[in-house]
Amino acid sequence: MTEKMPNQPSPPSQPWMASVLTLFPDMFPGPLAQSLAGKALAAGLWSLKVTDIRPYGVGVHHKVDDPPFGGGPGMVMRPDVMAAALAAASEGLPDDTAKIYLSPRGKRLDQALVRELASRSGVLLVCGRYEGVDQRVIDAADLTEISIGDYVLSGGEMAAQVLIDAVVRLLDGVMGNPIAHQQDSFENGLLEHPLYTHPRDWGGKVVPEILLSGDHGRIAKWRHEAAIALTRERRPDLLEKWLKSEGKEDHSKGKKPTK
Ligand code: ADE
Repeated sequence: MTEKMPNQPSPPSQPWMASVLTLFPDMFPGPLAQSLAGKALAAGLWSLKVTDIRPYGVGVHHKVDDPPFGGGPGMVMRPDVMAAALAAASEGLPDDTAKIYLSPRGKRLDQALVRELASRSGVLLVCGRYEGVDQRVIDAADLTEISIGDYVLSGGEMAAQVLIDAVVRLLDGVMGNPIAHQQDSFENGLLEHPLYTHPRDWGGKVVPEILLSGDHGRIAKWRHEAAIALTRERRPDLLEKWLKSEGKEDHSKGKKPTK
């Protein structure tokens, strides 16, 4: 008999899973088969289930869409078809799976939400095409709408891939050095400081001297200050939030950020 160590969280019995509903199953795994996410997929650190919506379409032509009631351009994905495909895609998924409809109307995906999704057993991702999905199936299945930004894609598939990629790199065992996450942009509420590598002198452009000093305390301070300056310059909204969370005020308003 194996005894459980006290205070040791038991590893999840199933890897994190993305169950994707799409009219274009050939788009998966697509770029997710490459690099970090691809290696992690091959190693079984996460899993992917892709459900083709088309076979659940109605009639001989497996029709999945119809014009919107009330008029207007384009077509709407039918609720009966989507519900049948959703039932198949949801089979056997753990209760805490996040059920998501990728849509430009949704809550904006950010690093905090990515972390939250990584802490669950997985996600069910509904990818819409055409004008979108009938509202009744969004309500009935209690789908959370998530957007990856204020622009309109021609379907949810690429948005689903962005979401999956962002989550997968946070899963245990996927990145060689988990400490690296702490330096990622957004992880601590700031943009990441600039990075430099060899050569030290690249056509007269030299690496900041302090990074060559070997003084880890001074390097950490320089990086922290550079992260603040960069965030102030590019994302004053983020800096404001960060200062509030740190209980600080910005005393350098109007100052030029150091390059
Ligand atoms: N589908 C179309 N546009 C989208 C967006 N910006 N985010 C998520 N899903 C989408």
